[in-house]
Amino acid sequence: MQYIRLGSSGLKITQLTLGTALTIGTEIINVSSAGKIINTAWEMGIRSFDTSNNYGMGGAEKMLGRIMKQFNRQEFVLSTKGSWPVGDSPYERGLSRKHIVRAVDDSLKRLDTDYIDLYYAHRYDSETSIEEICRTFNMLIQSGKILYWATSEWPAEALSQCHDICSKLLLEKPIAEQFIYSYAVIKAERNGVIDFCRSHDVGTLGFSPLCQGFLTGKYKSGIPEGSRISKSRAINYDKTANFYAQNKSRIDYFIDTCDKYNADYTAAALQYCINKNIYPVFGASSPEQVIMNVKASEETLPGKLWKDLDSYETGSI
Ligand SMILES: NC(=O)c1ccc[n+]([C@@H]2O[C@H](COP(=O)([O-])OP(=O)(O)OC[C@H]3O[C@@H](n4cnc5c(N)ncnc54)[C@H](OP(=O)(O)O)[C@@H]3O)[C@@H](O)[C@H]2O)c1
Repeated sequence: MQYIRLGSSGLKITQLTLGTALTIGTEIINVSSAGKIINTAWEMGIRSFDTSNNYGMGGAEKMLGRIMKQFNRQEFVLSTKGSWPVGDSPYERGLSRKHIVRAVDDSLKRLDTDYIDLYYAHRYDSETSIEEICRTFNMLIQSGKILYWATSEWPAEALSQCHDICSKLLLEKPIAEQFIYSYAVIKAERNGVIDFCRSHDVGTLGFSPLCQGFLTGKYKSGIPEGSRISKSRAINYDKTANFYAQNKSRIDYFIDTCDKYNADYTAAALQYCINKNIYPVFGASSPEQVIMNVKASEETLPGKLWKDLDSYETGSI
């Protein structure tokens, strides 16, 4: 497993990050089953783990923290996030200092750890000034509760303002931006976010690199039992099916192009992101999927595949 450096920071993460949304602590609430997924990721060399205070309403952080206790804290990177609503009051959402300071303390407790390696401002909050946001995240770095900060799904304009303010006030800048990215969903290529990150040496991570399963080919002939769509009611999440409706032409083109070169779908999906230095934050509902995905990220694929995939121009945004 290769390590990559996040942007201009000194923080290295494995090129694959295992995410925990909708799986650990949501669908998988048995610690032994969740442990098998995490342990397999560890055995396969993954040392970067992503969660958030809202996944399973704290359940993902609790489960991940409990399982990670068996490993040396120095040997992995733990990322979590705050700003997504976790309650009804104005103090349970957004990026105000009042919410974020409390959110970090709550995450530390659930994760049962002394520090968070990478803490994300999960969404931009236009009701809090960017200066307050930057100062709050810097204060958290000073306190040792978080080591680095990052953003997720921020508009390019807000990223630009944030980096300008940090430069002016000599504050630590966010080292990475995590956005939705896969062959099927390329809006970050078109809304200026990737361009901003490239020109400012900001690390880029892509979440949902398999388009929630569509780019593994699993839905080619319908909805298989045990798949995220089939479990939508049980996990209280029904948006996966929409991904196909919204990105049908690119998903179909991807599957057809992989078939043309007899290329493994999952390998093509993950390597498509890695080739662009957008490091995948993927999910897995079983240890077998973790093994498949790690192997897929390292498989050799025909060079012509990339040219063909890149030649598709009219995808959805
Ligand atoms: N920053 C943000 O705002 C944000 C938002 C969303 C997610 N995330 C992060 O990104 C992570 C990944 O998101 P995601 O789960 O939507 O992405 P994904 O990696 O595109 O999809 C993962 C799902 O696809 C299926 N799958 C994975 N590997 C497979 C394989 N080899 N063969 C067949 N099916 C396979 C599994 O679902 P089934 O087996 O259940 O079908 C798995 O849970 C999350 O866990 C979270 O950490 C961040």
